[in-house]
Amino acid sequence: MADTHSIITPAIMYWGTPVVLIMTENEEGTANIGPISSAWWLGHRCVLGLASVSQTTINLMRTKQCVLNLPSDDMGHYINPIAKTTGAPDIPPVKQMLGYEYCKDKFARSGLTPRASDLVRPPRIAECPVQMEAELMGSTELMSDMPDRKGFLLALEMKILRTHVRKDLRLAGHTNRVDPDRWRPLIMSFQQFYGLTPQRSVESSLATIEEEKYRMLTRSDVVSQGGDMDRVGSEEMDSGIDERSMGTDSSK
Ligand SMILES: Cc1cc2nc3c(=O)[nH]c(=O)nc-3n(C[C@H](O)[C@H](O)[C@H](O)COP(=O)(O)O)c2cc1C
Repeated sequence: MADTHSIITPAIMYWGTPVVLIMTENEEGTANIGPISSAWWLGHRCVLGLASVSQTTINLMRTKQCVLNLPSDDMGHYINPIAKTTGAPDIPPVKQMLGYEYCKDKFARSGLTPRASDLVRPPRIAECPVQMEAELMGSTELMSDMPDRKGFLLALEMKILRTHVRKDLRLAGHTNRVDPDRWRPLIMSFQQFYGLTPQRSVESSLATIEEEKYRMLTRSDVVSQGGDMDRVGSEEMDSGIDERSMGTDSSK
């Protein structure tokens, strides 16, 4: 069979991930919006990929708090005005090279609206359908094999403390589920914005797993995250998974 591929060395590896607008608090108490797309989720943890020179990173390291706001695919026009800006008054050389400018008030520049959070100091973004209040648990320096780049990029582990979701995105008849047919995340692929196509491409066999079975992993059966109903003891909770099947049985 003929080889249909050729070798390239892309300068960026932005294969397509959801955009996250990170709210953090500046030293003087004002709020900063940091748009990113290097984010992935496992259990109730999120790992963020951030440049260490960004104001968002500086604020996160100092305060350990943020709100992770997920915009929908029709919200790109809010992000463009703040896309090539930084909340850091001394613009780092790498951002100067990329044409970034300083922006003191990204809410004013973007047209987005702050809304008070419950558990952390930075506000949520009212227009975003999903808003997660979160706490920094730890960080790892990337590129430690390259002495002149070590620590320029960081992987930050965030713990989700509370999730706010726009009511029309909830799956009817369920307390704690999002309707994936309604949730339309904004995706960034190689610096361009996309949405998901409205139709499922193919039915997913992973989706045959009952969602509540994952709850034992996140421990949100024990540590309430403040949903609008008391989950403990509800029928949805009966995942049938115990510590033994998780391989975490400490009584052994
Ligand atoms: C859609 C989008 C996605 C981005 N993704 C990332 C990312 O994943 N990681 C990162 O460090 N910067 C990313 N950036 C660049 C940051 O937004 C940029 O560094 C910005 O200056 C951060 O703001 P701050 O310095 O006020 O924190 C992205 C920018 C945009 C517009």
